[in-house]
Amino acid sequence: MSKDKLPPGVRRHAPKGAAAERGGASGRGRQDLKKRVKTAKGRKLSSTRWLERQLNDPYVAAARRDGYRGRAAYKLIEMDDRLRILTPGARVVDLGCAPGGWLQVAVARVNALGRKPGKRVGRVLGVDLQDVEPLPGAEVLKLDFLEEGADEAVKEALGGQADVVLSDMAPFASGHKTTDHLRIVALCEAAAAFARDVLSPGGAFIAKVLQGGAEAELLAALKRDYEHVSHVKPPASRSDSSEKYVVARGFRGSPAAPEPPAGQAGWDPAGV
Ligand SMILES: C[S@@+](CC[C@H](N)C(=O)[O-])C[C@H]1O[C@@H](n2cnc3c(N)ncnc32)[C@H](O)[C@@H]1O
Repeated sequence: MSKDKLPPGVRRHAPKGAAAERGGASGRGRQDLKKRVKTAKGRKLSSTRWLERQLNDPYVAAARRDGYRGRAAYKLIEMDDRLRILTPGARVVDLGCAPGGWLQVAVARVNALGRKPGKRVGRVLGVDLQDVEPLPGAEVLKLDFLEEGADEAVKEALGGQADVVLSDMAPFASGHKTTDHLRIVALCEAAAAFARDVLSPGGAFIAKVLQGGAEAELLAALKRDYEHVSHVKPPASRSDSSEKYVVARGFRGSPAAPEPPAGQAGWDPAGV
């Protein structure tokens, strides 16, 4: 995005071109003329509005220009520019990764392709219900994360700990507010339980939530498991959407098995 198109006070994060490769470019911008879409016969008003919004969305234009698979990439860029959790060498799991914008950002920032000489090489594992076009530097598993045994399949593919667990999972909107809310809570809880099992101490978890933020019970569990928990609405998240992200950092570590008290060989911690 050229500098003259940036709103006042917003700095460009990466030079024009190859931004997707670098995991940069804030994508904020402004269009001077609003594009209108003529209502076409056979097209619903909602589709016309969607098309009009896409045509006038500076993040959609920036994603096209910067080579990202979707405008969602800028949400992760904006959050990580503040949080600095996608560092070279980090092992990342991205739940709900299709079409792959977050994967592109993560691959570049954790140096999964080893293109940053002298920096540690990270790893990126994506998961989605849908097919994802292959992306160099990322492995992708196609599965329903809410299916029985799905978390075990992801753990097996991971083969160890992760430093960052991301979840941008969102169910297909049913149009029924309560149903959609319950579904996204279920996805977020499943992601949080998975993160608790795989994160290394100090690790981070980011997940999409709706409305007021994470549910009270989930928030209490996150506050117990992590040193810092907050909600973030990145500028790229549409202001008319109730979407937010819960960000939990400084994972305290999976509850370690207590050491047997001295002299009590054969002590079974599970039996205490
Ligand atoms: C908003 S999109 C993610 C966009 C992605 N972060 C990007 O940058 O391209 C939400 C994704 O969640 C996925 N999803 C929803 N429910 C899921 C489930 N139960 N298991 C796996 N993926 C799921 C959808 O298929 C969809 O691709």
